Amino acid sequence: MSSAGQPTDPIKFVALYKRVLKMLGSDRKLGWTLACANVTLAMAMFAEPILFGLVIDALSRAPLDHPEQIWPVLAPLLFTWMGFGLFTISCGALIALFADRLSHRRRHIVLRDYFEHVLQLPLAQQSDKHSGRLMKIMLQGTDALWWLWLSFFRDHLAAAVSLIVLVPVALYINWRLALVLIVLCFVFVGLTHFILRKTQALQQQVESHQSDLAEQASDTLGNIALVQSFARIEHEVSSLKNISQRALGAQMPVLSWWALVNVLTRSSTTLSILCIVALGAWLFTHGLTTVGAIVTFIAFSGMVIMRLEQIVGFIHRLAIDAPRLQEFFHVLDTEPSIHDSPQALDPGRVRGAVAFENVTFAYDKKHPAIQGLSFTLKPGTTVALVGASGAGKSTALSLLYRAFDPQAGRITVDGTDIRELQLSALRSNIGVVFQEALLFNRSIAENLRVGLPEATDAQLRQACASAQALDFILQHPQGFDTKIGERGRMLSGGERQRLSIARVLLKDPPILILDEATSALDSATETKLLQALEAVTKDRSTLVIAHRLATIRQADTILVMAHGQVVETGSFDELYALGGRFTQLVKEQFTDASGQFIS
Ligand SMILES: Nc1ncnc2c1ncn2[C@@H]1O[C@H](COP(=O)(O)OP(=O)(O)OP(=O)(O)O)[C@@H](O)[C@H]1O
Ligand SMILES: [Mg+2]
Repeated sequence: MSSAGQPTDPIKFVALYKRVLKMLGSDRKLGWTLACANVTLAMAMFAEPILFGLVIDALSRAPLDHPEQIWPVLAPLLFTWMGFGLFTISCGALIALFADRLSHRRRHIVLRDYFEHVLQLPLAQQSDKHSGRLMKIMLQGTDALWWLWLSFFRDHLAAAVSLIVLVPVALYINWRLALVLIVLCFVFVGLTHFILRKTQALQQQVESHQSDLAEQASDTLGNIALVQSFARIEHEVSSLKNISQRALGAQMPVLSWWALVNVLTRSSTTLSILCIVALGAWLFTHGLTTVGAIVTFIAFSGMVIMRLEQIVGFIHRLAIDAPRLQEFFHVLDTEPSIHDSPQALDPGRVRGAVAFENVTFAYDKKHPAIQGLSFTLKPGTTVALVGASGAGKSTALSLLYRAFDPQAGRITVDGTDIRELQLSALRSNIGVVFQEALLFNRSIAENLRVGLPEATDAQLRQACASAQALDFILQHPQGFDTKIGERGRMLSGGERQRLSIARVLLKDPPILILDEATSALDSATETKLLQALEAVTKDRSTLVIAHRLATIRQADTILVMAHGQVVETGSFDELYALGGRFTQLVKEQFTDASGQFIS
């Protein structure tokens, strides 16, 4: 997936940061209260250098013969200082605690929102984004948000405000000395601006390589059996190394630029302090300032420099996080192309009359996978789709549960265009046994309850018995509590299929789609399962895709598909009598090597 536009100017940077703050949602009020408290705290910190200067001046004015006379002046200063110290420490601790809680809470809320959003994106929008990449974007994006919120409320707002206040105060204390600080501010601003311009594009590249890395690693880990059986470990490791080297290659110049900023800011800081001390000494010798004022000023410069360094550090981190946030917002801003229309209806449990009316659909918008497809399915009947691999059978049926929307024509259920129905209502009326059994890395019971969350144990057993799955489940010592591994890896292909049939039986939908549901079963199990399915499908509208034609003998109508179109329609016997493509398919399957017909 390509990331969103590059933030090549600071304005986009600011816009990005503003969006981060806007995402506080219902916690915005608490956030701003914390920020204001933090600013007040930062102001209170100014008291320290001023008090320090006053103490020094009081000490230097102490009469040498009676030094104890200084206490009546010194004591109130020291107590005030202590009071300020206690106030700033306890307030600081409270703010840090609340800011921490706030940003952690928001991170989890945003993570949940992102997760829900990604799950709603239709398959058409998911296909070009690998799950590993989406996961990386989620984790790093929410991490970046968490850090930016936390540091905004804990440090950055206060740092920015203190700088704005400190500079005029410094000018007031001694404008000549303050000029040095102002020059220092300009040097910092100029430097970071320059480095940002130099590194932004590179940082974007680094992030894109990091996303490739996440995608490649999770793709490989998800196909570990393939990697091992094809002895591809070395190859996979070396291709990961390549991506990682590209990421490092892009990262190094960025690191060098920021190291340069570090050296330059440190040197200008040291230089500025030296200038202030030298200039201060000169002013003192000319009677233009006191020792106390110089001490206050040096403490002030320390604060200005600390704040400047904080702000540069923050910009550095924001520069690293900006591309992550952009990727994150890019996914979040992707509108699901399939969603409920404002007037969407909930039809309740449908009767199951399905009609495809001249439906055309292309994955790439150019080469149609389905072309002018029309057929009807009466409630309670069975329509079978047969045809060569790649003819468009699975695609056609995926349009019924709106995995994709057709580009032309329409599909109706009980006479209503499916685009006028609520998506969740439509999907709850349709049960799908997918061509590849899709299973979670959870227990068998949890996988089954995807069909009916409130199913009792007795219902689970009943569904599994019908799907010929009970025997193999009970063979496991933990029975229904057995964990089945990623995508059901710990089960055989046929066991996975029977589980997904049991799952759909529990769902008990009025419309059933069986896409090669029994293809991985031995013939004895298949016969038993087909008998069970016959009972189950009797009062349901069923759409069956099957390569093994024996399994669709009882279908009311068979559609023979080729190149996305229906080329023949009829019952098994009608089509066989036709002597066309179906007859040829039957002959291919029911004749042995010597050309003898086997029934
Ligand atoms: N997600 C997808 N993105 C792009 N093209 C796809 C996608 N899924 C399928 N196709 C293409 O659409 C065409 C029809 O595929 P479909 O899966 O519907 O065939 P099928 O008739 O079910 O085949 P099979 O019997 O092998 O399952 C094929 O050419 C396939 O390459
Ligand atoms: Mg298919």
